[in-house]
Amino acid sequence: MADKVKVGIIGSGFEADIHAAAFRIMPEEAEVVAVASPSPGHAQELAKRYDIPRVFQDYREMLKERDIEMVTITAPNYLHAEMTEDIASAGKHAVCEKPLCMTLEEADQMIEICRKKGVLLLYAEELFFTPKYVKAKEMADQGAFGKVYLVKQSEKHFGPHSDWFWDMAKAGGGALMDLGCHGIAFCYWFLDRPSIKSVQCHMGTYVHADKTRGEDNSICILEFDNGAVGLVEDSWARRGGMDDRIEVFGDGGMTYASLLMGNALPTYSEYGYGYAVEKAPTTKGWTYPVFEELWNYGFPQEMRHFARCVRGREEPIATGEDGRVVMEAIYAGYASAGRGEKISLPFRPQGVKRPIDLWLAV
Ligand SMILES: NC(=O)c1ccc[n+]([C@@H]2O[C@H](COP(=O)([O-])OP(=O)(O)OC[C@H]3O[C@@H](n4cnc5c(N)ncnc54)[C@H](O)[C@@H]3O)[C@@H](O)[C@H]2O)c1
Repeated sequence: MADKVKVGIIGSGFEADIHAAAFRIMPEEAEVVAVASPSPGHAQELAKRYDIPRVFQDYREMLKERDIEMVTITAPNYLHAEMTEDIASAGKHAVCEKPLCMTLEEADQMIEICRKKGVLLLYAEELFFTPKYVKAKEMADQGAFGKVYLVKQSEKHFGPHSDWFWDMAKAGGGALMDLGCHGIAFCYWFLDRPSIKSVQCHMGTYVHADKTRGEDNSICILEFDNGAVGLVEDSWARRGGMDDRIEVFGDGGMTYASLLMGNALPTYSEYGYGYAVEKAPTTKGWTYPVFEELWNYGFPQEMRHFARCVRGREEPIATGEDGRVVMEAIYAGYASAGRGEKISLPFRPQGVKRPIDLWLAV
């Protein structure tokens, strides 16, 4: 197609690979034409794997390329706001990975600059596109469960792959910030975006205190103003690989879904095998390799939607505003865990540098 959206990717690590692969799985609407990353050799390797013609060390150079219309940010959390500002100032649409940024001030600035420059700020929350979870929402919207009163989402594994996630100055928080952002967004989206009335959270560092000040386990209860409750459980302390699941309860029914069970082959191996199961430390013993993994998570569908939004063919369903709602709930979650009390929203403490400070500083 002649009018494919030309895409640049910032970063060349784990998520950059997913974005590049996602565009390749659904190539009709967009093509990746450039990648930018300061990591020596990494960007070149990614470019080679996915036939990406242009490689830059400095993403600002990539932003000078006139044909690039949409840029995806897959850099560490503390860089999201600055990168979004640069992308918008270059007149390009921004796709920002989760969590949106480090602070509510940054979130507001990101939304404002994209509005001013007339570009889209798209929030890369793939759970809005995950086929099993979308199916659950479709059934809920058709009334299958009656009035939904409880939505649960949980993501657990043994902790992230890169050092910066464990450094609170760069990540902004631990399991709640990294994984809870998915669950908060999911509950909010599933229930059709009712306001969040309050957040109550418990967290601790149980397994990884030697390498981080971040929490490696968190439990978060969200009260919505339509009367429903969200329960978001996240962990960097779960051994044995990845778990990602939802449960939905209404007065007339319920449904469960696991992204790993039913999309995976229960596998036992004495010797291991080449393919690294996400976040599993080994492929020996029992593992659950997922087939069509990116599709089952919704990444290609997400990137296709974003490209269609750039062309005006679809209205964005995952935006900077969604990321901002999530950020406020994350603030409230850390403050709740710190104070040992339920926090009512709106909640906007001043002078916050990193959400986790609202827990650590108490
Ligand atoms: N949606 C999801 O499920 C999901 C999964 C994993 C990561 N993420 C998010 O994606 C982002 C990146 O995470 P990751 O797992 O890919 O991390 P990573 O450590 O694997 O990769 C980070 C990349 O950012 C690059 N980078 C660092 N500083 C940069 C700079 N100044 N300019 C350009 N590039 C720079 C690094 O070189 C590296 O290539 C994070 O915000 C993370 O939360 C989202």
